[in-house]
Amino acid sequence: MAKVLVATDKPFAAVAVKGIRDVVEGAGMELELLEKYTQKSQLLNAVKDVDAVIIRSDIIDAEVLDAAKQLKIVVRAGAGYDNVDLDSATAHNVVVMNTPGQNSNAVAELVFGMLVYGARNFFNGTSGSELKGKKLGILAYGNVGRNVARIAKGFDMEIYAYDAYTPVITIENDGVKPVASTEELFKTCQIVSLHIPATAETKASINYELMNYMPKGAMVVNTARKEVMDEAGLTKMFEERTDFKYISDIKPGIDAELSAKYPDRYFATPKKMGAQTAEANINAGIAAAKQIVDYIQTGNTQFKVNK
Ligand code: 3PG
Repeated sequence: MAKVLVATDKPFAAVAVKGIRDVVEGAGMELELLEKYTQKSQLLNAVKDVDAVIIRSDIIDAEVLDAAKQLKIVVRAGAGYDNVDLDSATAHNVVVMNTPGQNSNAVAELVFGMLVYGARNFFNGTSGSELKGKKLGILAYGNVGRNVARIAKGFDMEIYAYDAYTPVITIENDGVKPVASTEELFKTCQIVSLHIPATAETKASINYELMNYMPKGAMVVNTARKEVMDEAGLTKMFEERTDFKYISDIKPGIDAELSAKYPDRYFATPKKMGAQTAEANINAGIAAAKQIVDYIQTGNTQFKVNK
């Protein structure tokens, strides 16, 4: 009987785990749970005899793949798969998939929770500003970016987007103004929301030069990855631009310093919260379980992300 492990340092809602169990056991497979683990050794031990693993931001590196002798498939229940060593997975004959779009509304809603919080000066009692009429720049127009645009319309914002890979017509059809480059987006918009993945190309790409293009009252919201920020540039922005705010769902390495120095202009969630809703957990978790069952039963590789 095939064995599926759910290995989540940050657990899914119980209702999502039940849904995953129903799919896996309904297909005649066995489900094992490893939640809130604190040591890598627990993960290494849990993967020993499983055929499939469902993860979130959990790290799957060569050591884990070496330990997982029966492993055939890893599904990242979520969008970004920078936590999985794809080359090593391929070398181990392990298929890696993600579940694109399944948690994107949850992340997009958090963007607006964070934007209102930032625009209202972190609820410190002083007079803040409104989002209505402000220019919002969406950097990368994928599943999350599209949901951000949809919600921004309700706030009556002027919406711009840049995406190197999405056709301009797709952006225009959503009533969003496409711009020609990342630079133009930052030059145009007072508020920028980041939705780029962490890749060799994007790492540290949000730097001082780019952020300093932003008009007065600049606010950057990051629900993507901490690696896309150039932290030296971020420090410089805080030092030189007293109007600048940075709100992040992923703590930068310089979190302690920024929290101490700029409590009225900086906020980061203690733990990544973007996809942490029951709905997103159900959508992504059950999609992951179904993709595993489908791959094991029929060989369907529709959502495969490695070679
Ligand atoms: C994603 O890439 O899907 C999001 O960053 C969510 O990550 P999480 O599952 O670790 O919350």
